[in-house]
Amino acid sequence: MKIISTAKELKEQVKLLKLSPLGFVPTMGALHNGHISLVINARRKCPLIVVSIYVNPTQFNDKEDLKNYPRTIEADLDLLNKHLRKEDIVFIPYDKEVYPTEDKRIFGFGNLDNVMESLHRPGHFNGVGLVVSRLFDIVRPDMAFFGLKDFQQVAVIKSLVRKLKFGVKIIACPIVREPDGLAMSSRNRLLEKDIRKRAPVIFKTISRAAEMFGENDVPGIKKFVKSTIEKEEGFRIEYFEIVDDIDLIPIKNKRGIKKGKHYFGCIAVKAGKIRLIDNIEIPLA
Ligand code: PAF
Repeated sequence: MKIISTAKELKEQVKLLKLSPLGFVPTMGALHNGHISLVINARRKCPLIVVSIYVNPTQFNDKEDLKNYPRTIEADLDLLNKHLRKEDIVFIPYDKEVYPTEDKRIFGFGNLDNVMESLHRPGHFNGVGLVVSRLFDIVRPDMAFFGLKDFQQVAVIKSLVRKLKFGVKIIACPIVREPDGLAMSSRNRLLEKDIRKRAPVIFKTISRAAEMFGENDVPGIKKFVKSTIEKEEGFRIEYFEIVDDIDLIPIKNKRGIKKGKHYFGCIAVKAGKIRLIDNIEIPLA
């Protein structure tokens, strides 16, 4: 694999190799097997892939979160080296490559700005939009790979692609879990030991909620999820919503279900000091 830090060198290298389709896996580093599954998916479809590592300051609404975000560049490169081919590229841009001047664009993602993550992390998705559009401009991929753990992010990026008319196909890849069910996340390594041990309660509870949907309505399921998770000391729910997979509009009851749509239970939990998110498809009878 090649390691590149400037947009100019990246563009030259991609042009030289003339391999298509070009796949792109944007990351903020602190890589785990969830990221590697994106790399493996990208490798299957694309003879050349670019993996970026860039901790994007504009998507952190909380400065402490940005400061504490894990940075493990040596380990990341070792891991990527095991999975990338010799022509594949790791792009580790300097700040000035991504943001040569201050980027003041405000996108507006419609309903996506008014639900779940957007209510708890104001400005977060605008920052994601800024960095992803800048990286798409630099890398010019044919396909880009994102993990479905960040369910709302995938919807936001699809909306960004439509809005800015990028010719990029967005490939959403399944959530990868630890053996005990916890969704893999760079933040898991920040969990206190005791909290980490009990964190599988999140997936276990939303799995049970999905099963309950056949015989229960939304308010009862929400109550069950909140009380089960908050029974654990140090765990507090920020939201649990059942939403469709396109506009992510929360339904209040089963009458809100629209034919032909898929529904997901999406959750955010403060586990000790760390915020975790997860989701599960709700089977409709
Ligand atoms: O999902 C992430 O790691 C980030 O939000 C992304 C897409 C790399 C943008 O910084």
